[in-house]
Amino acid sequence: MANLVITIDGPAASGKSTVARLLAERLDASFLDTGAMYRAVTLAAMRAGAHMSDEDELLGVIESSEFEFSAEAGKTTVCVNGVEVTEQIRGPEVTANARYAAAAPRVREKLVEMQRQFAAGEERIVTEGRDQGTVAFADADIKFYLTADPRERARRRQAELRAAGEERNLEQIQTAIEDRDNSDQSRTTGPLRPADDAIVVDTTELGIEEVVEKLLACVDEKCSGKG
Ligand code: DC
Repeated sequence: MANLVITIDGPAASGKSTVARLLAERLDASFLDTGAMYRAVTLAAMRAGAHMSDEDELLGVIESSEFEFSAEAGKTTVCVNGVEVTEQIRGPEVTANARYAAAAPRVREKLVEMQRQFAAGEERIVTEGRDQGTVAFADADIKFYLTADPRERARRRQAELRAAGEERNLEQIQTAIEDRDNSDQSRTTGPLRPADDAIVVDTTELGIEEVVEKLLACVDEKCSGKG
């Protein structure tokens, strides 16, 4: 197991991926985007023509596919069967279908196992998702839970899409985000919730750098307390 494990959980568009990546950079730690794993499995299953709600079929796809995740040059690169799919896993269809893999208990078990294997080979790791502090790394050194008002999360997502040349209605984005919150919070295995010992940070009024600074201060405090 890594010497330093930091988990960041939170709902869709709470800024956790960007924050986790920057925090990892600042701490010279590896970064694991576990949402990319659920997305990669979803894309592989869609391409294989699997029935998304059939857990056995999803597991079959995992067994017969080769997944590679690497976090270099500040972004997570994902390959399925040797082909890079970094952009494809962010598409709206994969985003909408990822809930099936996320709700399948044995798929979660498999992915949590892969997450722990990844961490075992790293010195320090910042890992982000929905269940990192509650399930995958329940004994992590420091756990964060980032949250933000759904309206603000929708605004951030709209700005991201606009920057990519896509114009979308704010209400529709907010509805999609709230649907994902419901599905993330209501599943029986690995539901989205803050770990009992997580530090909860509401980012509604904060910029990315302010959040990173806040988290770094917590890490400093915890680490100096340890030493
Ligand atoms: O964070 P994201 O939007 O890339 O996550 C994609 C999907 O995977 C989303 O439906 C939530 C799910 N997920 C999960 O269930 N558990 C995780 N640890 C990470 C993501």
